[in-house]
Amino acid sequence: MKKEITYEELQAAASYVQARLPYTPKVALVLGSGLGDFADRLTIDAKIPYGEIPHFPVSTVAGHAGCFLLGKVGDCPVLIMKGRVHYYEGYSMQEVVMPVRVMHMLGAEILILTNAAGGMNPSYKPGTLVRITDQITSFVPSPLIGANMEALGTRFPDMSHVYDVELGKKLDSVAKTQGITLEEGIYLQATGPNYETPAEIRMYRTLGADLVGMSTACEAMAARHTGMKIVGVSCVTNMAAGMSTGELNHKEVQETANKIAEDFQTLIYKFITEIG
Ligand code: 6GU
Repeated sequence: MKKEITYEELQAAASYVQARLPYTPKVALVLGSGLGDFADRLTIDAKIPYGEIPHFPVSTVAGHAGCFLLGKVGDCPVLIMKGRVHYYEGYSMQEVVMPVRVMHMLGAEILILTNAAGGMNPSYKPGTLVRITDQITSFVPSPLIGANMEALGTRFPDMSHVYDVELGKKLDSVAKTQGITLEEGIYLQATGPNYETPAEIRMYRTLGADLVGMSTACEAMAARHTGMKIVGVSCVTNMAAGMSTGELNHKEVQETANKIAEDFQTLIYKFITEIG
């Protein structure tokens, strides 16, 4: 835990995975809560459990057991992360973003990030799907802190356009064609593992955020550093603290994620077919 990751360690992990991939991925896809069984739709051509990969962080949370899966969506080769590790588990930010960096090193040019998030925009409801248009990472440490890995990207990367505008438009049009409602929103990453207080949610809302979660934004930042094109989609599993009656619990988050899973999977599947 709390480990610095060197470029040599990234290379060792990437070589291990590369040796097990029969073809080069074009798209990298991170599956969030509820999207876990997306891969059941595909023929899987390679499966690499994170536990086998040198230096790789392995999740400790129930329901987040992790592996890379390689398959094709239509003709598009996709490398899937089934399970991710979170900062709240005690990993360093460098460990948390290691898998995304490895996917870049394996050749993936487009990164699709998905997650379950709390809704702060009052127009959302549990089950709303939201395309992430921008993000606030100011409440967690930057994953880029530490010696810069020049082979990955520049020391002071621009973050004006973390989420790719053209791909975002394409996702909107796929949603429209499929009859799936897709909102837009700004994602704020909190450390977790606790959910927020109502006062924190009012603060985050005042700061301009629509969604709150415990992942994604640091991954998007690390991926942007490498020049990957990024698309982000959140499933609002619950309204954030103070915005609805009742307490928040992980079970409810998972149940809502499961209910919307079919639309979510269709959206991502058709989108990849389009961009592949
Ligand atoms: Cl309300 N907060 C955070 N930080 N993450 C969440 C959430 C809330 N709901 C789902 N994931």
